[in-house]
Amino acid sequence: MNELEIQKFWNEHPCGDVHMGGIQPYLGDYEKFFSDYDRYRYRKEGHILRCLDQIDFRGKHILEIGLGQGADSEQIIRRGGLWSGIDLTPESVERVRTRFSLRQLSYQSLKQGSVLKIPFDDHTFDIIFSHGVLHHVPDVESAQREMHRVLKSGGELIVMVYAKWSLNYLLSIYAVRRLGLMALFLTHYNPGGIFGQHLANAREMGLWHYLEMKNFIHKNTDGPLNPYSRVYGLREVRRDFPNFEIVRCHKHFMHAPPLPVGWLPLEGLLGWHLWVHMKPI
Ligand SMILES: C[S@@+](CC[C@H](N)C(=O)[O-])C[C@H]1O[C@@H](n2cnc3c(N)ncnc32)[C@H](O)[C@@H]1O
Repeated sequence: MNELEIQKFWNEHPCGDVHMGGIQPYLGDYEKFFSDYDRYRYRKEGHILRCLDQIDFRGKHILEIGLGQGADSEQIIRRGGLWSGIDLTPESVERVRTRFSLRQLSYQSLKQGSVLKIPFDDHTFDIIFSHGVLHHVPDVESAQREMHRVLKSGGELIVMVYAKWSLNYLLSIYAVRRLGLMALFLTHYNPGGIFGQHLANAREMGLWHYLEMKNFIHKNTDGPLNPYSRVYGLREVRRDFPNFEIVRCHKHFMHAPPLPVGWLPLEGLLGWHLWVHMKPI
């Protein structure tokens, strides 16, 4: 998997755009776009703010990796973090720069760059925060080595990765979506939209090959065009982050589309977002 392909996808589909209908309808009104986006994000994933509240960012050097629209970046700065950030794509970096300038937020450094080659010196940061990013990085072994390099000893790595032991993976993606796609494919019914894209993927790759979980997972977390995704249990975290030790973890977000599971009080057990706090070894 080529990093350029991943960069192209995220540059053309900035994280969260799909929920807002993109930036174009806002006719350049970024302030309104960011306000609408943040309202949407934290209404749907209110746990993010609660989790951030439990982290002491004050006066600490923070590196955020993978910025999207910069919503959490703003929250970290507002909580007193001395914030630096990188994203693989020029689009995300420009949007975050615009957000900070519109809202007059001060920060240390904002760069385009990859977690595979972090553009900072050794032992620079107290905390590295990366939400929803590292499961999209195929060479996560190199990524964790780079994060270990720039983190101070005694620092903390906080990541959110998609949870393998979740209703979304075990029921929705594994069973419901695969059966649904099989039915559409075999009945030649094409409702268009994302289903149409899944059908096109299945035709291109061959249905059975597409339905193998090692292929299907990539196309069922961030849309059917997403090039790469993985899911994690703690076993996989230990395997992929050998330079770190897990300190604590917690799960959030009852999310298993198309199943209406948001009301189920099971997020701590079967939520889609696995937050892991680690310290460097
Ligand atoms: C799913 S979005 C998450 C964004 C944000 N953290 C959030 O929670 O909304 C993934 C982001 O990671 C960035 N990204 C992907 N691979 C990366 C890499 N190798 N290095 C740095 N950023 C990367 C993408 O450009 C994208 O902005």
